[in-house]
Order: sequence, then structure tokens, then C-alpha cells
Amino acid sequence: MTITFVGHGYVGLVSAAIFADMGNIVHVIGHTEEKIENLKRGIIPIFEPGLAEIVKRNVDAKRLLFTLDYDPAIKESAAVFIAVGTPPLPSGEADLSVVFAVAEKIGQHLGGYTVVATKSTVPVGTNAKVKEIIEKAKPEGAEFDVASCPEFLREGTAIEDTLHPDRVVIGTESKRAEDVMLELHKPFNTEIVATNLETAELIKYASNSFLATKISFANAIAKLAEATGADAIEALHGVGLDKRIGKRFLAPGAGYGGSCFPKDVKALIAIARAHGYEFELLNEVERINKEARQDIVRKAEKMLEGDVKGKKIGVLGLAFKPDTDDMRDAPAIDVINALRDKGAEIKAYDPEAQENAKTIIKDTEFAKDAYDTVTGTDLVILMTEWNEFKEMDLAKVKSLVTSPVFLDSRNVFNPKEMTDMGFAYMGVGRT
Ligand code: UGA
Repeated sequence: MTITFVGHGYVGLVSAAIFADMGNIVHVIGHTEEKIENLKRGIIPIFEPGLAEIVKRNVDAKRLLFTLDYDPAIKESAAVFIAVGTPPLPSGEADLSVVFAVAEKIGQHLGGYTVVATKSTVPVGTNAKVKEIIEKAKPEGAEFDVASCPEFLREGTAIEDTLHPDRVVIGTESKRAEDVMLELHKPFNTEIVATNLETAELIKYASNSFLATKISFANAIAKLAEATGADAIEALHGVGLDKRIGKRFLAPGAGYGGSCFPKDVKALIAIARAHGYEFELLNEVERINKEARQDIVRKAEKMLEGDVKGKKIGVLGLAFKPDTDDMRDAPAIDVINALRDKGAEIKAYDPEAQENAKTIIKDTEFAKDAYDTVTGTDLVILMTEWNEFKEMDLAKVKSLVTSPVFLDSRNVFNPKEMTDMGFAYMGVGRT
């Protein structure tokens, strides 16, 4: 099949590359000349393990075609995917201006019959508006249907998630569009949820909000564990073994960050509010998540005898999670800013997100590796659980720091082993 993706962020680029790898001809439309020229040469704008190889392979095979032009890509395509950003507005609602602008341009270039599917995370009711916009913009005689086809890939494991999804969701009112989408998604060999537009849109927000709720629940249990002398990791392991609950996304720590959970939880609260329902559960999920970041700052102060002023703190990891260079809403930003505002001197390091971090985190020294980060520090805080940190030589770390004080916001290390080694150690939810 010939298809088009508008947008080459995580969702657009990964999905386009995988569809091309399955033998489809895939156009990818962007709007920045430099990025499109780079992509044509196989240079990708994001860090995602395994992606560069797949892009290169399919560019070489002429199945993955990057362009700035809507013509002829749209006319040639059986399906066009909108995969552009929907950042939050100050109100928490998603900013849909790019989705609508792209829909109009797609409409203007339609010919024959095309399915226009939205992959961007958009509020319930958006695809109905996309349909109206295309209806107005399209040339006479061109036929189309809209569909909602939300994406569930995670950064860092995007290839695996896209190749082996737990489900594919296809929302559309049209049998013809459904058939095109079913055909395209057949090779994924997974359960397909074929439903209406609104339900598909809701599945995406409800899924991300539920996962965020699990994380905040784990962080709430961690607080209780710290207060009672229980161990949250063991408790949540015990909880997660119940198949109805599941073990994943129950790790307490510095809370969730990234470009999805914070934005989507806010958006679902805003959607609910617009329909007269105050989603108090999600308000609390957000509050607990904010508190999880503040607790890291509070613990740092506690470990440095109540005052971080003039103290040297080494921060290991900046990205919102490992295996990505993404700094969007990373808990490390809030933690570093708060500690610096309280007078601490910060030295930070991330294996991949360092360059992005430099543009966001000010007045901070950036180290060249993990050992350089910890050298001469009064406190080490681990913020992102990169393998590089898990594999550190802790005896060497101990020999390099000024005082062996370790705050492990992602519970990477074993508290007993750390204390046996002579570290003053704190994790999250562990005594
Ligand atoms: C998330 C969803 O997991 C994907 O299914 C979805 O497609 C994507 O958003 C999206 O909407 O585009 P992502 O933001 O890439 O994916 O990252 P996650 O692996 O879900 O992690 C999000 C945050 O939660 C990270 O900051 C991570 O450290 C944190 N987290 C995760 C925890 O604090 N505890 C956990 O147990 C799991």
C-alpha cells in the first residue's frame, strides 16, 4: 500500500519506518527543509535505539520517501496519517492548531478515495472536526473518510512496541475506511479494536491516564511504606503478582515525566471538565506526581543535614527515563532547579540527553561521565536509571566523592548493599 505520514516525531517517524519495513511505500511530510534533507540521508532528529538502521534500510530501498510537499504524496496514498504534536495550552487542553492546519492541507491535495487517520493524541471530538475541515478544503470529486488510530509506543522501546503492539485501535464510522485500515494493520498480528471515532480517542487518554494513576498509586504506597517501616518495592511486587493488577508501571520514584503522561493526564482532566465532570482522581494523580519530585528535594536536604546551601551535588541522569534523549517534563529539571535555588552547586550528566538538557537547565556544570559527575560531591542523586549507572563501580564512586551520601530516586541499588559499603543511602519507599 502507498501511505503518508505527516510529521516525523517519535510517533510519525517510527510508525512510518515500520510500515515501510513491512513493504509499503511510505511518504513522510515534514516542514523543516534541513530536517527533511537529513532524513533523506538517513540522519534522524531523535535518539531511539534501532531506528536509524530501519530508516536507512528503507530510504535505500526507496520505500521511505521524505518530502516537504503534499503533492503527489497525498494523491498517491490510500491512507494518510496525521502524526504531529499536540502540546498543552496553559489551560491544560491540547493545542490542536497544527492538527487542524495539516488537515486542511491534506484536504486540499486529496484525489480519489483516501482514509485520513489521526495518530496524534487528540481530545474526544477532534476527528469529527478534522472531517469538517477536510470536507471544506477538498477538491470536488475527492472522497475520504476519517479514522482515529492512536499510538501506544514508548520512547526507548518504540520499535519493539510498534512491531508487537498489545492492540491496534481503529476508530471510524465507515466500513470502507475500516477495511483499508484492517488491511494495513494485518501484519501486526494482534487484537484489533474496531470502534467509533470517539471511543478510539478516549482509549488513548484513558490508557495513559491509567498508567499514570498506577505510578502515582505506587508513589503513594511508597510514602506509606516509609512512614511504617515497610518496603514499597517488595509490597508492590506482591501486589503486582495479582494478574488483575499486573507488575508493570508500579515502580515508585521521582514520578512520571515525558511528553505524554503529564500532558495527557492534564488533557483528560480538561476534557472531563469541559463536559461537566471534575475528574478528582486524576487531580490527585497529578498532585502525587508533583509531590514525588518535591520529595526528592526534601530527602536531599535531609541527607545534607537540613541545608543544601554551598553543597556540591552530583546528578546522574537527566532524561525523563532511560534510553531516550528527551528532556520534556523530566523530573530532573524540577529537582535540579529547586536545589540550585536553595544554593546547592550542581554537576550533572546524562549519557544521551546532555545536549538537550544544556538548553533547559541553566547555571549547572555538565560532567563528562558518571565518575566525573560524582567527583568531589557531598551528595549523589540518581535521577534516571540508565544501564551505565546500574553498572558503575560503586567502590570507585565512594573513593571519588567527598562524602558517601547517595539518593537513589529510581531504586536502582540495594539499600543493604549500599549501607554495607558505607554509603548513607536513601531510595523511594524503602527504609
Ligand atoms: C507513554 C506510554 O507508556 C505509551 O504507551 C504511549 O504511547 C506514550 O506515552 C505516548 O502517549 O506517546 P513514554 O512517555 O514514552 O510512553 O514513557 P513511559 O515508559 O510510559 O514512561 C513515562 C514516565 O513514567 C517516565 O518518566 C518513567 O520514568 C515513569 N515511570 C514509568 C515511573 O515513574 N514508574 C513506572 O513504574 C513506570
